[in-house]
Amino acid sequence: MSDNQHPIDLRSDTVTQPSAAMRAAMAAAPVGDDVYADDPTVNRLQDYAAELFGYEAGLFAPSGTQTNLIALMAHCARGDEYLVGQEAHTYKYEGGGAAVLGSIQPQPIANQPDGSIAVADIAAYIKPDDMHFARSRLLALENTIGGRVLPQDYVKAATDFAHAKGLATHLDGARICNAAVKNGISLREAVAGFDTVSVCLSKGLGAPVGSVLLGPKSFIEQGKRLRKMLGGGMRQAGVIAAAAHYALEHNVERLADDHRNAADLSAGLGAIAPLKVTTPQTNIFYVEIPEAACEPLREALAKQGIRASIGPHTRLVTHLDVSSADVRTVIAAFQAFFKDWRN
Ligand SMILES: Cc1ncc(COP(=O)(O)O)c(C=O)c1O
Repeated sequence: MSDNQHPIDLRSDTVTQPSAAMRAAMAAAPVGDDVYADDPTVNRLQDYAAELFGYEAGLFAPSGTQTNLIALMAHCARGDEYLVGQEAHTYKYEGGGAAVLGSIQPQPIANQPDGSIAVADIAAYIKPDDMHFARSRLLALENTIGGRVLPQDYVKAATDFAHAKGLATHLDGARICNAAVKNGISLREAVAGFDTVSVCLSKGLGAPVGSVLLGPKSFIEQGKRLRKMLGGGMRQAGVIAAAAHYALEHNVERLADDHRNAADLSAGLGAIAPLKVTTPQTNIFYVEIPEAACEPLREALAKQGIRASIGPHTRLVTHLDVSSADVRTVIAAFQAFFKDWRN
Protein backbone atom coordinates (compact mmCIF):
# COMPACT_ATOMS: atom_id res chain seq x y z
CA MET A 1 0.00 0.00 0.00
CA SER A 2 1.32 3.39 -0.89
CA ASP A 3 0.55 4.99 2.46
CA ASN A 4 -0.62 1.99 4.47
CA GLN A 5 -4.16 3.35 4.19
CA HIS A 6 -5.59 2.42 0.84
CA PRO A 7 -5.13 -0.58 -1.39
CA ILE A 8 -3.95 0.05 -4.95
CA ASP A 9 -6.47 -1.57 -7.26
CA LEU A 10 -5.43 -1.86 -10.91
CA ARG A 11 -8.13 -4.32 -12.02
CA SER A 12 -10.47 -1.73 -13.52
CA ASP A 13 -11.53 1.91 -13.45
CA THR A 14 -14.88 0.72 -12.05
CA VAL A 15 -13.43 0.26 -8.54
CA THR A 16 -13.27 3.94 -7.53
CA GLN A 17 -14.80 5.21 -4.30
CA PRO A 18 -17.06 8.28 -4.46
CA SER A 19 -15.17 11.31 -3.13
CA ALA A 20 -16.40 13.39 -0.18
CA ALA A 21 -17.61 16.12 -2.55
CA MET A 22 -19.46 13.58 -4.69
CA ARG A 23 -21.10 12.10 -1.59
CA ALA A 24 -22.12 15.61 -0.48
CA ALA A 25 -23.77 16.17 -3.88
CA MET A 26 -25.62 12.86 -3.46
CA ALA A 27 -26.81 13.76 0.03
CA ALA A 28 -28.07 17.16 -1.08
CA ALA A 29 -29.89 15.97 -4.22
CA PRO A 30 -33.63 16.68 -4.48
CA VAL A 31 -35.33 13.45 -5.61
CA GLY A 32 -38.65 12.15 -6.91
CA ASP A 33 -40.02 9.04 -8.58
CA ASP A 34 -38.14 8.78 -11.86
CA VAL A 35 -40.56 6.24 -13.35
CA TYR A 36 -43.01 9.18 -13.28
CA ALA A 37 -40.18 11.38 -14.66
CA ASP A 38 -40.52 13.26 -11.35
CA ASP A 39 -36.90 13.17 -10.22
CA PRO A 40 -35.43 16.65 -10.78
CA THR A 41 -31.85 15.44 -10.35
CA VAL A 42 -32.24 12.67 -12.95
CA ASN A 43 -33.95 15.10 -15.34
CA ARG A 44 -31.16 17.62 -14.84
CA LEU A 45 -28.48 14.97 -15.49
CA GLN A 46 -30.20 13.73 -18.66
CA ASP A 47 -30.53 17.29 -20.00
CA TYR A 48 -26.98 18.18 -19.03
CA ALA A 49 -25.47 15.08 -20.67
CA ALA A 50 -27.55 15.55 -23.83
CA GLU A 51 -26.39 19.17 -24.13
CA LEU A 52 -22.75 18.29 -23.37
CA PHE A 53 -22.57 15.62 -26.08
CA GLY A 54 -24.87 17.39 -28.56
CA TYR A 55 -27.96 15.15 -28.59
CA GLU A 56 -31.66 15.97 -28.23
CA ALA A 57 -32.32 13.82 -25.18
CA GLY A 58 -30.82 11.48 -22.60
CA LEU A 59 -31.87 8.49 -20.52
CA PHE A 60 -30.25 7.48 -17.24
CA ALA A 61 -29.97 3.73 -16.59
CA PRO A 62 -28.28 1.53 -14.00
CA SER A 63 -25.51 0.18 -16.22
CA GLY A 64 -23.69 0.44 -19.52
CA THR A 65 -24.85 -3.05 -20.37
CA GLN A 66 -28.42 -1.80 -20.11
CA THR A 67 -27.94 1.43 -22.08
CA ASN A 68 -26.22 -0.57 -24.85
CA LEU A 69 -28.99 -3.19 -24.87
CA ILE A 70 -31.71 -0.53 -24.92
CA ALA A 71 -29.96 1.06 -27.91
CA LEU A 72 -29.59 -2.24 -29.77
CA MET A 73 -33.24 -3.12 -29.13
CA ALA A 74 -34.47 0.31 -30.16
CA HIS A 75 -32.42 0.31 -33.37
CA CYS A 76 -33.06 -3.33 -34.32
CA ALA A 77 -36.27 -5.34 -34.41
CA ARG A 78 -36.56 -9.12 -34.09
CA GLY A 79 -34.64 -10.73 -36.96
CA ASP A 80 -32.48 -7.68 -37.62
CA GLU A 81 -28.72 -7.74 -37.14
CA TYR A 82 -26.04 -5.38 -35.95
CA LEU A 83 -22.46 -5.28 -37.21
CA VAL A 84 -19.98 -5.23 -34.37
CA GLY A 85 -16.33 -5.89 -33.57
CA GLN A 86 -15.33 -9.36 -32.46
CA GLU A 87 -13.72 -7.75 -29.37
CA ALA A 88 -16.58 -5.35 -28.62
CA HIS A 89 -18.15 -5.30 -25.18
CA THR A 90 -21.71 -5.53 -26.55
CA TYR A 91 -20.81 -8.70 -28.42
CA LYS A 92 -18.31 -10.41 -26.14
CA TYR A 93 -18.99 -9.30 -22.59
CA GLU A 94 -22.71 -8.59 -22.22
CA GLY A 95 -23.99 -12.15 -21.93
CA GLY A 96 -25.25 -12.22 -25.50
CA GLY A 97 -28.08 -9.92 -24.36
CA ALA A 98 -28.87 -8.63 -27.85
CA ALA A 99 -29.57 -12.19 -29.04
CA VAL A 100 -31.09 -13.50 -25.80
CA LEU A 101 -33.37 -10.59 -24.96
CA GLY A 102 -33.69 -8.73 -28.27
CA SER A 103 -33.77 -11.55 -30.86
CA ILE A 104 -31.11 -9.50 -32.63
CA GLN A 105 -28.41 -11.36 -34.54
CA PRO A 106 -24.89 -10.05 -34.04
CA GLN A 107 -22.60 -10.03 -37.08
CA PRO A 108 -19.16 -10.00 -35.46
CA ILE A 109 -16.27 -8.68 -37.58
CA ALA A 110 -12.53 -8.93 -36.78
CA ASN A 111 -11.10 -5.86 -35.09
CA GLN A 112 -7.93 -4.43 -36.61
CA PRO A 113 -4.89 -3.94 -34.36
CA ASP A 114 -5.96 -0.31 -33.75
CA GLY A 115 -9.42 -1.45 -32.57
CA SER A 116 -11.28 -0.37 -35.68
CA ILE A 117 -13.34 -2.57 -38.01
CA ALA A 118 -12.14 -2.09 -41.59
CA VAL A 119 -14.68 -0.23 -43.73
CA ALA A 120 -14.08 -2.85 -46.45
CA ASP A 121 -15.15 -5.54 -43.96
CA ILE A 122 -18.25 -3.55 -43.00
CA ALA A 123 -19.08 -3.34 -46.72
CA ALA A 124 -18.53 -7.08 -47.15
CA TYR A 125 -20.76 -8.04 -44.20
CA ILE A 126 -23.78 -5.84 -44.94
CA LYS A 127 -26.32 -8.28 -46.30
CA PRO A 128 -28.41 -7.74 -49.41
CA ASP A 129 -32.17 -7.36 -49.02
CA ASP A 130 -33.00 -11.05 -49.47
CA MET A 131 -35.31 -13.24 -47.40
CA HIS A 132 -32.47 -15.66 -46.69
CA PHE A 133 -30.62 -13.09 -44.61
CA ALA A 134 -31.12 -11.16 -41.43
CA ARG A 135 -31.69 -7.46 -42.09
CA SER A 136 -28.47 -5.45 -41.52
CA ARG A 137 -29.65 -2.45 -39.51
CA LEU A 138 -26.91 -1.06 -37.31
CA LEU A 139 -23.18 -0.50 -37.03
CA ALA A 140 -22.00 -0.50 -33.40
CA LEU A 141 -18.50 0.74 -32.58
CA GLU A 142 -16.70 1.10 -29.25
CA ASN A 143 -14.35 3.95 -28.27
CA THR A 144 -12.04 3.54 -26.46
CA ILE A 145 -11.72 -0.19 -27.13
CA GLY A 146 -9.26 -2.05 -24.92
CA GLY A 147 -7.81 1.38 -24.09
CA ARG A 148 -7.20 2.20 -27.78
CA VAL A 149 -8.62 5.39 -29.27
CA LEU A 150 -10.30 5.00 -32.65
CA PRO A 151 -8.77 7.43 -35.17
CA GLN A 152 -11.23 10.31 -35.77
CA ASP A 153 -10.89 10.07 -39.56
CA TYR A 154 -11.76 6.38 -39.31
CA VAL A 155 -14.85 7.13 -37.19
CA LYS A 156 -16.02 9.61 -39.82
CA ALA A 157 -15.36 7.21 -42.71
CA ALA A 158 -17.09 4.26 -40.97
CA THR A 159 -20.17 6.18 -39.81
CA ASP A 160 -20.54 7.98 -43.17
CA PHE A 161 -20.31 4.64 -44.95
CA ALA A 162 -22.88 3.02 -42.63
CA HIS A 163 -25.31 5.88 -43.14
CA ALA A 164 -24.83 5.77 -46.92
CA LYS A 165 -25.79 2.09 -46.78
CA GLY A 166 -28.92 2.85 -44.73
CA LEU A 167 -27.55 1.60 -41.39
CA ALA A 168 -27.91 3.47 -38.12
CA THR A 169 -24.84 3.99 -35.93
CA HIS A 170 -24.41 3.41 -32.18
CA LEU A 171 -21.34 4.08 -30.07
CA ASP A 172 -20.52 2.16 -26.91
CA GLY A 173 -18.85 5.19 -25.40
CA ALA A 174 -18.22 3.67 -22.00
CA ARG A 175 -14.85 5.47 -22.11
CA ILE A 176 -15.52 8.10 -24.80
CA CYS A 177 -14.36 10.84 -22.41
CA ASN A 178 -10.92 9.18 -22.29
CA ALA A 179 -10.84 9.26 -26.11
CA ALA A 180 -11.86 12.93 -26.24
CA VAL A 181 -9.26 13.95 -23.64
CA LYS A 182 -6.55 11.94 -25.39
CA ASN A 183 -7.35 13.56 -28.76
CA GLY A 184 -7.78 17.02 -27.25
CA ILE A 185 -11.24 17.37 -28.80
CA SER A 186 -14.67 18.23 -27.39
CA LEU A 187 -17.11 15.53 -26.33
CA ARG A 188 -19.37 16.63 -29.18
CA GLU A 189 -16.58 16.13 -31.70
CA ALA A 190 -15.75 12.73 -30.21
CA VAL A 191 -19.29 11.40 -30.79
CA ALA A 192 -19.88 13.05 -34.19
CA GLY A 193 -21.33 10.57 -36.69
CA PHE A 194 -23.17 8.43 -34.15
CA ASP A 195 -26.96 8.49 -34.02
CA THR A 196 -26.85 7.27 -30.43
CA VAL A 197 -24.22 6.86 -27.73
CA SER A 198 -23.98 5.11 -24.38
CA VAL A 199 -21.71 6.89 -21.89
CA CYS A 200 -20.67 5.22 -18.62
CA LEU A 201 -20.40 7.47 -15.58
CA SER A 202 -19.09 4.73 -13.30
CA LYS A 203 -15.79 4.02 -15.07
CA GLY A 204 -13.03 6.60 -15.35
CA LEU A 205 -15.42 9.39 -14.35
CA GLY A 206 -15.74 7.89 -10.88
CA ALA A 207 -19.49 7.76 -10.16
CA PRO A 208 -20.64 4.71 -8.21
CA VAL A 209 -23.45 3.70 -10.61
CA GLY A 210 -25.00 4.57 -13.94
CA SER A 211 -24.81 5.27 -17.64
CA VAL A 212 -26.67 7.62 -19.97
CA LEU A 213 -28.03 6.81 -23.40
CA LEU A 214 -28.14 9.83 -25.71
CA GLY A 215 -29.97 10.25 -29.00
CA PRO A 216 -32.98 11.79 -30.76
CA LYS A 217 -36.06 12.52 -28.59
CA SER A 218 -38.24 9.89 -30.25
CA PHE A 219 -35.51 7.25 -29.81
CA ILE A 220 -35.12 8.09 -26.12
CA GLU A 221 -38.90 7.83 -25.65
CA GLN A 222 -38.74 4.34 -27.12
CA GLY A 223 -35.72 3.66 -24.91
CA LYS A 224 -37.72 4.61 -21.82
CA ARG A 225 -40.23 1.86 -22.58
CA LEU A 226 -37.42 -0.66 -23.10
CA ARG A 227 -35.67 0.43 -19.90
CA LYS A 228 -38.85 -0.27 -17.94
CA MET A 229 -39.22 -3.65 -19.63
CA LEU A 230 -35.62 -4.55 -18.75
CA GLY A 231 -36.13 -3.63 -15.10
CA GLY A 232 -34.17 -0.40 -15.24
CA GLY A 233 -36.96 1.93 -14.14
CA MET A 234 -35.65 3.38 -10.87
CA ARG A 235 -37.50 5.45 -8.31
CA GLN A 236 -35.60 8.09 -6.27
CA ALA A 237 -32.62 7.66 -8.59
CA GLY A 238 -31.53 11.27 -8.09
CA VAL A 239 -29.29 10.03 -5.29
CA ILE A 240 -27.08 8.28 -7.85
CA ALA A 241 -27.76 10.71 -10.71
CA ALA A 242 -26.26 13.46 -8.52
CA ALA A 243 -23.00 11.52 -8.37
CA ALA A 244 -23.12 10.96 -12.13
CA HIS A 245 -23.69 14.69 -12.72
CA TYR A 246 -20.81 15.55 -10.39
CA ALA A 247 -18.60 13.10 -12.31
CA LEU A 248 -19.41 14.67 -15.68
CA GLU A 249 -18.84 18.18 -14.35
CA HIS A 250 -15.61 17.56 -12.45
CA ASN A 251 -13.87 14.42 -13.62
CA VAL A 252 -13.48 14.64 -17.40
CA GLU A 253 -10.38 16.84 -17.81
CA ARG A 254 -8.53 15.03 -15.04
CA LEU A 255 -8.59 11.79 -17.09
CA ALA A 256 -5.31 13.15 -18.49
CA ASP A 257 -3.78 12.34 -15.06
CA ASP A 258 -4.85 8.70 -15.45
CA HIS A 259 -3.34 8.59 -18.93
CA ARG A 260 -0.05 10.00 -17.59
CA ASN A 261 -0.03 7.49 -14.74
CA ALA A 262 -0.67 4.63 -17.18
CA ALA A 263 2.22 5.85 -19.37
CA ASP A 264 4.55 6.06 -16.33
CA LEU A 265 3.48 2.63 -15.08
CA SER A 266 3.94 1.05 -18.48
CA ALA A 267 7.39 2.63 -18.89
CA GLY A 268 8.45 1.42 -15.44
CA LEU A 269 7.21 -2.12 -15.97
CA GLY A 270 8.57 -2.23 -19.52
CA ALA A 271 12.09 -1.83 -18.11
CA ILE A 272 11.71 -5.02 -16.06
CA ALA A 273 12.76 -8.33 -17.68
CA PRO A 274 10.95 -10.56 -18.65
CA LEU A 275 7.83 -8.40 -18.90
CA LYS A 276 6.46 -7.33 -22.28
CA VAL A 277 4.32 -4.22 -22.02
CA THR A 278 2.05 -2.38 -24.47
CA THR A 279 2.24 1.40 -24.72
CA PRO A 280 -1.00 2.88 -23.39
CA GLN A 281 -2.97 5.45 -25.37
CA THR A 282 -5.28 6.11 -22.43
CA ASN A 283 -5.73 4.46 -19.02
CA ILE A 284 -5.59 0.77 -20.01
CA PHE A 285 -2.63 -1.33 -21.12
CA TYR A 286 -1.48 -4.94 -21.14
CA VAL A 287 1.49 -6.82 -19.74
CA GLU A 288 2.70 -10.25 -20.85
CA ILE A 289 3.87 -12.18 -17.80
CA PRO A 290 5.48 -15.66 -17.84
CA GLU A 291 2.80 -18.08 -16.71
CA ALA A 292 4.97 -19.58 -13.95
CA ALA A 293 5.40 -16.16 -12.37
CA CYS A 294 1.71 -15.29 -12.22
CA GLU A 295 0.61 -16.99 -9.01
CA PRO A 296 3.63 -15.98 -6.87
CA LEU A 297 3.49 -12.44 -8.29
CA ARG A 298 -0.20 -12.13 -7.45
CA GLU A 299 0.56 -13.20 -3.88
CA ALA A 300 3.55 -10.86 -3.54
CA LEU A 301 1.50 -7.90 -4.78
CA ALA A 302 -1.47 -8.78 -2.56
CA LYS A 303 0.82 -8.70 0.50
CA GLN A 304 1.56 -5.08 -0.36
CA GLY A 305 -2.11 -4.23 -0.89
CA ILE A 306 -1.82 -4.20 -4.69
CA ARG A 307 -4.73 -5.83 -6.51
CA ALA A 308 -4.40 -6.75 -10.17
CA SER A 309 -5.90 -9.41 -12.44
CA ILE A 310 -2.51 -11.05 -12.89
CA GLY A 311 -2.31 -13.63 -15.68
CA PRO A 312 -0.21 -14.29 -18.77
CA HIS A 313 -2.03 -11.39 -20.50
CA THR A 314 -2.63 -8.94 -17.68
CA ARG A 315 -4.78 -5.82 -18.11
CA LEU A 316 -3.76 -2.91 -15.90
CA VAL A 317 -6.02 0.12 -15.46
CA THR A 318 -5.35 3.50 -13.87
CA HIS A 319 -8.10 5.72 -12.44
CA LEU A 320 -9.07 8.38 -9.89
CA ASP A 321 -7.88 6.32 -6.94
CA VAL A 322 -4.41 5.56 -8.34
CA SER A 323 -1.91 8.35 -7.65
CA SER A 324 1.54 8.90 -9.14
CA ALA A 325 2.98 7.76 -5.78
CA ASP A 326 0.93 4.56 -6.14
CA VAL A 327 2.47 4.06 -9.59
CA ARG A 328 5.96 4.25 -8.07
CA THR A 329 4.93 1.76 -5.37
CA VAL A 330 3.66 -0.71 -7.97
CA ILE A 331 6.79 -0.42 -10.13
CA ALA A 332 8.96 -1.02 -7.03
CA ALA A 333 6.89 -4.08 -6.09
CA PHE A 334 7.28 -5.59 -9.59
CA GLN A 335 11.03 -4.79 -9.55
CA ALA A 336 11.49 -6.48 -6.17
CA PHE A 337 9.60 -9.57 -7.29
CA PHE A 338 11.44 -10.06 -10.60
CA LYS A 339 14.87 -9.35 -9.04
CA ASP A 340 14.48 -12.59 -7.10
CA TRP A 341 12.38 -14.57 -9.57
CA ARG A 342 13.99 -17.30 -11.66
CA ASN A 343 11.97 -19.56 -13.89
C1 LIG B 1 -16.51 -0.86 -23.14
C2 LIG B 1 -17.58 -1.20 -22.14
N1 LIG B 1 -18.86 -1.06 -22.50
C3 LIG B 1 -19.86 -1.35 -21.65
C4 LIG B 1 -19.60 -1.79 -20.37
C5 LIG B 1 -20.76 -2.17 -19.48
O1 LIG B 1 -20.87 -1.35 -18.39
P1 LIG B 1 -21.58 -1.86 -17.03
O2 LIG B 1 -20.53 -2.61 -16.28
O3 LIG B 1 -22.00 -0.59 -16.37
O4 LIG B 1 -22.72 -2.72 -17.42
C6 LIG B 1 -18.28 -1.95 -19.95
C7 LIG B 1 -18.00 -2.44 -18.59
O5 LIG B 1 -16.90 -2.72 -18.22
C8 LIG B 1 -17.24 -1.64 -20.86
O6 LIG B 1 -15.95 -1.77 -20.52
